[in-house]
Amino acid sequence: MEQTQEYDSKLVTLLEALWGDGYLSPGGNAETALVLAGLDVRGLRVLDIGCGTGGCALYIASGLEPAEVVGIDVEPEVVEKASAAAERAGHAGRLSFVAVEPGPLPFADSRFDVVFSKDAIVHIPDKHTLAQEIFRVLAPGGVFAASDWMAGSDGLRSAAMQHYEQVEGLGFGLASPDRYFAALRAAGFERISYRDRTHWLRERTHRELVQLAGPLRPSLEASVGKEFLDHEVQVWQALCAVLDTAELGAGHWRARKSATS
Ligand SMILES: C[S@@+](CC[C@H](N)C(=O)[O-])C[C@H]1O[C@@H](n2cnc3c(N)ncnc32)[C@H](O)[C@@H]1O
Repeated sequence: MEQTQEYDSKLVTLLEALWGDGYLSPGGNAETALVLAGLDVRGLRVLDIGCGTGGCALYIASGLEPAEVVGIDVEPEVVEKASAAAERAGHAGRLSFVAVEPGPLPFADSRFDVVFSKDAIVHIPDKHTLAQEIFRVLAPGGVFAASDWMAGSDGLRSAAMQHYEQVEGLGFGLASPDRYFAALRAAGFERISYRDRTHWLRERTHRELVQLAGPLRPSLEASVGKEFLDHEVQVWQALCAVLDTAELGAGHWRARKSATS
């Protein structure tokens, strides 16, 4: 099946202007560190699902002394950009990025010790199958640590939410924390925990809207064009509306595969 490019060069330019080089999600290295807080990845093999332009994987490879980091993404262009950044940073040996098809993870059972993901699982509608795949590629004792955007509930979407999903135009498979929890538990995970980050995301998204409409406008208009920027301002307005009602939220997940599984 042909993959439509959603994170095209204009969107990547705009998101990196807001969120930092290598980041297609908010929070930068500090948020990546928080997702991994308390987890010692020294000497471990880490998979990053939905690596985008590579900021999270680069941070992990540069600062946390893993044995290996593999980033995967369905969009070849972001993978190319991430690979170039890894090479520039001198990490080409132990950090690699691979373009994949949506679907089963292309790795052997027990291939990784940590599966990380930052704001990418939202694009994968079937949480149950993905949770089984993550469980399969984790070695016994392995850890899943992820951030994601969440639906406040799995019920009917309000008009504001439908408007946001329509203007955003990205393939969303938003699910509630309950659905994530059920998927992780059904896959066999233990010690499942969730840290709500909705308040944090709401505050910073409102600040970003001010930036997009004000200080960042001249440089972004020059790089992505007025029409695209005007559209993204609409996206941010719609996003603020659904964050204000908590119909959209965000949070960090942690779950473990038992050492005896
Ligand atoms: C919001 S971006 C986050 C990128 C990166 N994790 C970060 O924090 O900067 C979501 C990424 O998930 C990728 N993605 C979407 N569906 C995917 C799938 N089925 N498997 C792997 N990656 C996927 C997109 O191409 C995009 O690069």
